[in-house]
Amino acid sequence: MSFPHRHDLETTTLLSRHQGDETARSLEGWRGLGGYEALRKAIGMSPDEITEVVKASGLRGRGGAGFPTGLKWSFMPKDDGKPHYLCCNADESEPGAFKDREIIRWTPHLLIEGCLIGARAIGSAHAYIYVRGEFFEDTRYLTAAVTEAYEGGYIGDDIMGTGWSCDLTVHTGAGAYIAGEETGLMNSLMGNRAEPWAKPPFPAQAGAFGMPTTVNNVETLSTVPGIVTEGADWYTQWGTEKSPGTKLWCCSGHLVRPGNYEFELGIPLEDIIFEACGGTPSGKPVKAVIPGGSSTAFLTGDELDCSTTYEGMQEAGSSLGTASPIVMDEDTDIVAAMRRIAQFYAHESCGQCVQCREGTSWVVRILQRIEAGDGELKDIDTLYELCEQMTGRTICVLADSVVFPLRSSLDKFRGEYEARMSPSLVAVG
Ligand SMILES: Cc1cc2nc3c(=O)[nH]c(=O)nc-3n(C[C@H](O)[C@H](O)[C@H](O)COP(=O)(O)O)c2cc1C
Ligand code: SF4
Repeated sequence: MSFPHRHDLETTTLLSRHQGDETARSLEGWRGLGGYEALRKAIGMSPDEITEVVKASGLRGRGGAGFPTGLKWSFMPKDDGKPHYLCCNADESEPGAFKDREIIRWTPHLLIEGCLIGARAIGSAHAYIYVRGEFFEDTRYLTAAVTEAYEGGYIGDDIMGTGWSCDLTVHTGAGAYIAGEETGLMNSLMGNRAEPWAKPPFPAQAGAFGMPTTVNNVETLSTVPGIVTEGADWYTQWGTEKSPGTKLWCCSGHLVRPGNYEFELGIPLEDIIFEACGGTPSGKPVKAVIPGGSSTAFLTGDELDCSTTYEGMQEAGSSLGTASPIVMDEDTDIVAAMRRIAQFYAHESCGQCVQCREGTSWVVRILQRIEAGDGELKDIDTLYELCEQMTGRTICVLADSVVFPLRSSLDKFRGEYEARMSPSLVAVG
């Protein structure tokens, strides 16, 4: 595998440039930095022109699935006479992820600009930002910025005297992870329980309030103003053909310098972990990394020489997800780590699907037993069987989210599971 950017760890700060600097938070500060000029330019473009430039940039959704953003926008019906809605997904609840919060906290006007440009592209006159319920402080910054932008004529009627109008509402959730799944989010926005629905209907057909809707992640939409201002070629100078641009990386776990970083897509994962983040504080080898947030497959310490692109992480046997590597050093108890992950998903299951409701809690019970030293070898077979039963059979992929780390931990760290088995039961097993 070749790494064109092998030693180029210099951060390209398209999104993180103003993090840590309070200037960009106010409307005045943002305008001083050239803010809202991208929106002005976008209003001068037709919706199709905006969609085309985003398509040409190759931008892929940063909410986890990596779906091409311009293509998603092009699914929205045209001239159907119905209201269209843009929903910005700011629920950010995936364990390990903390990038959207930073965008909201430091550059709320960048996000507002991205939402308005996205709304214009899909023919929407009302955008919503659905914010995770626990983001109290960040929601304060965001609502203050929205108020200022309304007062300054950047949201609402006749934006910047252009004749184009668009409203924007900030809506807070109540702390459920499943409200981050796009149909769960829209249900919650409509005042229902945040339960995902089976597709079809897809959001572009009938989403929020039964109308055509596009759901996009905070980082996705915040990337759009730069693309509109500078053009698609500017954006594709970074990354690879299939994974252009830069990406925010939320690095946590056993690291000397954990934190939020922005890198060009494609640099090796091991460079992020060892060069940027300084490796493990104990100086001990890395045992495992969950590279894309807790719903992605484990990599071992020997598998980190992989390219941080959507395709590279897939080749390595995991996925980019939300680009949130959780690093575990040699002393980490993998069974306990997996049990904790499974507990999260069991707690957050909305309960509609048997395979998820029963499967996630069954996994937790087995892992608790193994962790306590009371497991049997046949428990490993049962866990594999549960992985089978929980994959691809449910309304949303929360059940699959447990399977990726679970199956990979069994494949790669089977010895750790076996070493925890009750000696008496191993003998009869
Ligand atoms: C269980 C579950 C939780 C999710 N949570 C989030 C989330 O917190 N934030 C997010 O942007 N996307 C989340 N997603 C993905 C969204 O459903 C959706 O794909 C995304 O918001 C689309 O935006 P994008 O195209 O810009 O990536 C989640 C998906 C699932 C299945
Ligand atoms: S997979 Fe789980 S979280 Fe998703 S709809 Fe079914 S029960 Fe709910």
